[in-house]
Amino acid sequence: MDAIVIKGGKKLRGEVSISGAKNAALPLIASAILTGGRNTIKNVPDLHDVGTMARVLEQLGAEVSGRRTLQIASSSINKFEAPYDLVRTMRASVLVLGPLVARYGRARVSLPGGCAIGARPIDQHLKGLEAMGAKIELNHGYVEASCKRLRGATVVCDISTVTGTMNLMMAASLAKGRSTIENAAREPEVEELARVLNKMGARIYGAGTAVIDIEGVDDLHPVEHAIIPDRIEAGTFMAAAAVTGGNVLIKNCLLEHLEVVIAKMQGAGVEVSADAGGIGVRGGGELRPLDLTTQPYPGFPTDMQAQFMVLAALANGQSVLTETIFENRFMHVPELTRMGADVNVQGRVAIVRGPTRFMGATVMASDLRASAALVLAALVARGTTRVRRVYHLDRGYERIELKLRKLGANIRRVKE
Ligand code: EPZ
Repeated sequence: MDAIVIKGGKKLRGEVSISGAKNAALPLIASAILTGGRNTIKNVPDLHDVGTMARVLEQLGAEVSGRRTLQIASSSINKFEAPYDLVRTMRASVLVLGPLVARYGRARVSLPGGCAIGARPIDQHLKGLEAMGAKIELNHGYVEASCKRLRGATVVCDISTVTGTMNLMMAASLAKGRSTIENAAREPEVEELARVLNKMGARIYGAGTAVIDIEGVDDLHPVEHAIIPDRIEAGTFMAAAAVTGGNVLIKNCLLEHLEVVIAKMQGAGVEVSADAGGIGVRGGGELRPLDLTTQPYPGFPTDMQAQFMVLAALANGQSVLTETIFENRFMHVPELTRMGADVNVQGRVAIVRGPTRFMGATVMASDLRASAALVLAALVARGTTRVRRVYHLDRGYERIELKLRKLGANIRRVKE
């Protein structure tokens, strides 16, 4: 296992280029199941989770080659099972469920099980597929879905779910007749998937809003597509510039995906300028306490909550962070506390009192974004921090230590 060792105190300066979006790459890889033939996906981030999704497709019989540009040949798919040992390492593997049922009429996908941040059920995915005529059985920890041909249906999601909306959009694309997904997730990655499905010949209207209409077609053809940038990676580097009091230009990001994050950061007293060249973040001023509630897009993203907790800890006063999406997404708190933070968690609410003078320590990463928060605290801490189990980071950040070192951080990866 690797660890990352950081000597804190350096102000980050310079430019950083954002990679392709993890949470767009994963559904796009799964969507190749729908077309047969050879799909080409460009600007793919070099992440552990992308590798896992490629392995899931290979497990089905597809041929996947390349790294930043993936070639996926899916005509050779001849198996319809996503096994437990892959799904348990990455719950997004469940994204093969909709495409397999839609194109092959069958799928056997391990239930993802919970993860560090919550139970994360997939009941909405299954409810929607059943509404489209799929027979769903739960056997020995697997979902077994079958249907000769899905038929269009109206699905009202009880809760806005990103991968649920994606699974149902992909399934409905090849269903017979018209479908409507109500209370759909509005995330940019949902919109990106709809964009690619429409390039494949699907007829999807309203992606990016809470009501998505899909006119089913008989088949879809392979495409070539370059993925949108990762708004959460961009937000994480914005936070890194802010907490170190640095001056960083974040390039290759889409401003319209970061409006709430930019506004929240400006409200905390960070100078943020945004133009066609990217997002400029200049820290160093006095930080003001913040009141933050995570919401489905376009609200404040849950994937940025841990990073903003570090910013809140440095602010002068009491901040309130409310996590409404996941039931256990304060795993970063115990470790930040060991580095000197003053955080009091009451259920879904964390009260953060600052200013904190973070101290270096040996800490343990627990989930992807919690690990990012530990790195941010380490960048500003007095002394040296050792973040262990950084495979959590590698799931969602492409060579984060190289990008941070280029910005002047004293950071290195070590083998443990
Ligand atoms: C996606 O997860 C992202 N992952 C997550 O990013 C992100 O945190 C999350 O959306 C919320 O924005 C990918 O896109 C691969 P949800 P997803 O279904 O789709 C409940 C990261 O750090 N729910 O939108 O699994 C669920 O328990 C990862 O990159 C049901 O109850 O999240 C949660 O409380 C972490 N039933 C809420 O909805 C369902 O059928 C939102 O979950 C589905 C979800």
